[in-house]
Amino acid sequence: MKGEKYRQGLVISTIKDGTVIDHITGGEALNVLRIIGITGTTQEMVSIATNVKSTVMGKKDVVKIGNRELSREQVDRIALIAPRATINIVRDYDVVEKKGVSVPDTIIGIVRCPNPCCITNAGEPIQTRFVMEPRGLVCSYCDWVLSCDITSHFL
Ligand code: CTP
Ligand code: ZN
Repeated sequence: MKGEKYRQGLVISTIKDGTVIDHITGGEALNVLRIIGITGTTQEMVSIATNVKSTVMGKKDVVKIGNRELSREQVDRIALIAPRATINIVRDYDVVEKKGVSVPDTIIGIVRCPNPCCITNAGEPIQTRFVMEPRGLVCSYCDWVLSCDITSHFL
């Protein structure tokens, strides 16, 4: 049958050295790339799979980057859009470190408040502050609820 030879292929090949961000919420891979600063031309090896089948999540995204480790702040931002993500450090083909991400209860100085009347948008030297609640991220100053498209509100 036409294509039979390639039917069993891997979704993305394994990497020798770098970071694999696995179990990303389906559809969020490009936002993860934005968080880690991969936007246009890049020197690094990057592979992306979006909306692939996952037994635990239904569907998920995966991002693999060569020779790169992530900063604490980047991991915190990833947690906000992909709370089930796992970050795997790969060295010479082995996973040498695996860690989950954790969503901080209070998010300080990472997200801009969309409310133009909020004190944090008044030119005062006040850092934004949000609390993670079931209804979304809630601004501690004006009670604005940010429940979708968090990435476009990153500072
Ligand atoms: N991986 C990779 N290159 C390697 C080793 C691992 O791209 N040299 C990828 C795997 O494809 C997988 C992730 O890194 O997406 C984690 O690898 P591993 O821990 O071996 O997989 P699982 O046991 O399935 O991970 P988990 O328990 O987190 O689902
Ligand atoms: Zn506010």
